[in-house]
Amino acid sequence: MRKDVHILVVDDERIMRDSLSDWLLEEGYEVVAVEDGARALEKVRAERWDALLVDLKMPGMDGIEVLEEVKKINQDIPVIIMTAYATVDSAVRAMKQGAYDYIVKPFNPEEIGLAIRKIIAYQDLLKENIYLRHELEKKYEFMDIIGKSHKMQEVLALVRTVAKSNSTILIEGESGTGKELVARAIHNSSLRSEGPFVAVSCAALPESLLESELFGHEKGAFTGAVARKKGRFEIANTGTLFLDEIGDISPKTQVGLLRVLEEKKFTRVGGTEVLQTDVRIISATNKDLKAMVAEEKFREDLYYRINVVSILLPPLRAKKEDIPLLVQHFLKKYCIENKKEIDGLSSEASRLLMKYDWPGNVRELENVIERAVVVAKERIIVPEDLPLLAAEEGKFKPTPDMSLREVEKEHILLALESNNWNITKTAKMLGIDRNTLSSRIKKYKLKKR
Ligand SMILES: Nc1ncnc2c1ncn2[C@@H]1O[C@H](COP(=O)(O)OP(=O)(O)OP(=O)(O)O)[C@@H](O)[C@H]1O
Ligand SMILES: [Mg+2]
Repeated sequence: MRKDVHILVVDDERIMRDSLSDWLLEEGYEVVAVEDGARALEKVRAERWDALLVDLKMPGMDGIEVLEEVKKINQDIPVIIMTAYATVDSAVRAMKQGAYDYIVKPFNPEEIGLAIRKIIAYQDLLKENIYLRHELEKKYEFMDIIGKSHKMQEVLALVRTVAKSNSTILIEGESGTGKELVARAIHNSSLRSEGPFVAVSCAALPESLLESELFGHEKGAFTGAVARKKGRFEIANTGTLFLDEIGDISPKTQVGLLRVLEEKKFTRVGGTEVLQTDVRIISATNKDLKAMVAEEKFREDLYYRINVVSILLPPLRAKKEDIPLLVQHFLKKYCIENKKEIDGLSSEASRLLMKYDWPGNVRELENVIERAVVVAKERIIVPEDLPLLAAEEGKFKPTPDMSLREVEKEHILLALESNNWNITKTAKMLGIDRNTLSSRIKKYKLKKR
């Protein structure tokens, strides 16, 4: 690492200052740590710094104020804001006010390392004067795919690389993680972007229809085939064919697909003419294809054909640090669509967004924001605009770190409330007698919420 990189850490917590300093020193950086904004500003006036790591929540001057003052002294120092989940909304505000980046606590040192390496690379480029301003703004976005998390940065790097090649790609990920979005981005940034992007949902059609949809059919091939029809393989010629939900195709169609992939040739249903096609195949699935291969539900040879490059899209719950940027993006989109003006989210609303598990992934987040924009009465989105998440919040869920006593208490309370505090019914539901229930209510001092 480079000895000449100077980093200033600003955090009111001693443990954070010490552990960050130790780690950065070990990485070979020069580090100074101070405990508040006033001391930080003194340092910024007195010396040259390559980066500032500033805690958001500090008594006295908070991280945003420090950022503002630093920018007055020197516009160009990159400032990274460190923040807890609950205050990510402020992190977005910090980004708007010129923070270089933000990092969500608890973080592992590697994330800081990555952010600092980016700063160094960026400053080298600035020196060489080849960095375009808009590229900085686009650092967490590529063709409408948004992601700052490490996982998504890897995905975006892969997408950029494979787009230029002609290789066959398999995109895996749960429902709503952006598989189609990624497929389109690859097509649009590929050499085939002038050609068509043709999507087929393999799950939507029964076997016979899917075959004729893919390969086309001759007139009279089956009842109802009144005219010759071109298949998607023909239509997608010179472009990209997106085979969505490929895990759902029948064994027979799998054979047909394998042939096109191997020989670039096919025949229409009911026809004999051998046709050629030049398409790039991108497939997507939310199933575990590898497991399906093991269970002999999906052909192994086809699996290897479609899976030359694989892109795995993480579920949203595994990349929560992307939520603030996604929220910003969807807010902007739906404010324009609904002709509304909304500044952001209350901190309680952001906390709910960060806490929720997002089984429907980015699509669900998008729907939640769209709805919130429509129903919001003020310029700030509040928990009432997020009824699903607010309801989820109230629900009791045992976690492994809870004691049995806590779990029992919460569970009894929940049972009582769902029976409107009717003791007989509740006792029956819990499988205990009334006396036992009454003594538990006393023991835990339970009261109507
Ligand atoms: N990283 C992202 N940045 C911005 N928008 C995203 C991102 N990921 C997903 N979306 C949006 O979420 C919605 C769902 O994405 P998409 O349709 O691509 O998901 P999918 O994985 O194909 O889902 P399914 O398996 O249900 O078909 C789309 O509106 C898409 O634009
Ligand atoms: Mg899809």
